[in-house]
Amino acid sequence: MKWQQKIRDFHQLLFPHHHSYTLFDKTSSYQHLSVKYQPQINFLGMFSNNKFMAGYNTKTKLPWNSPFFLTDFYLKKPKEILFLGGGPCCAPTTLWERDKSRPISIDIVEQDPLVIKLATKFFDLPQDPSVSIHHTKAEQFLEENKKKYDVIFFDLGFAYERRNDIKFSFCSQNSTLEQLKNSLTPQGIIIYVVISHRQGNQKKFLNQLYKKFNKIFKNCELYSDAPQNNKKNQSHIFILSQKNKLVSQFPPTPSQLNDHWLNLYRELQDKKTSLSTLTL
Ligand SMILES: C[S@@+](CC[C@H](N)C(=O)[O-])C[C@H]1O[C@@H](n2cnc3c(N)ncnc32)[C@H](O)[C@@H]1O
Repeated sequence: MKWQQKIRDFHQLLFPHHHSYTLFDKTSSYQHLSVKYQPQINFLGMFSNNKFMAGYNTKTKLPWNSPFFLTDFYLKKPKEILFLGGGPCCAPTTLWERDKSRPISIDIVEQDPLVIKLATKFFDLPQDPSVSIHHTKAEQFLEENKKKYDVIFFDLGFAYERRNDIKFSFCSQNSTLEQLKNSLTPQGIIIYVVISHRQGNQKKFLNQLYKKFNKIFKNCELYSDAPQNNKKNQSHIFILSQKNKLVSQFPPTPSQLNDHWLNLYRELQDKKTSLSTLTL
């Protein structure tokens, strides 16, 4: 994809009201939810309180920049997969569609039942025995969980601004990080998403979070947009694991590796960022 085209696409994402069709618009007991379609860029997305949650490309059927697929860089055939935060469920749906012929079990924890209804209606979330939906809070699920997962995708919309909010403060508590660690298989990884920029107090916040990760997990890696772009509010993606050595393989070798997948992997690989970005 050309850079100019890419910039136009991101412009569309940043100004979602431009040239888009609203397919759904209502307030649930948790948030204001909308589903929008932008035919020019084949984009279907879900928004929470008018902020972009997640979406997918209706042509390629791949999620929009989903960091979940960093998994393929680290693990060959993960079996037990946990999504904390469902949203439109673009990542679990794509994963299921791709890997349903092998033994796989997907647990999705989403507190808002309307979100799951929309994921089913607009984003093709499958109704299949291998996909289990848990309508509960992530913190409660983790407290009660006895299962071990190969991959845990921690994607609850945790952001710097929400760090002291009662609904999100658990995200960075040591007890939560310990529960996440205890829910992992020995080879497993956690993909932990936090939204922030990297200046002043926000950089300090990310650095403190990284120090906590370092105390609890044996390995930590970071993926984010343009290492030099500290002003941008963006997803910081931490890969956490208990492996002695965390090795990533690029490009990964899943069963199907067409151009769309390669593009997605390249975009993710470009985000690899040195952790010194947070400490120096
Ligand atoms: C960014 S979206 C997840 C997107 C998803 N990973 C995908 O692939 O489409 C975050 C979701 O987490 C849910 N959420 C936020 N806090 C939660 C909590 N404490 N427990 C369970 N779900 C929560 C929100 O309702 C929202 O649907």
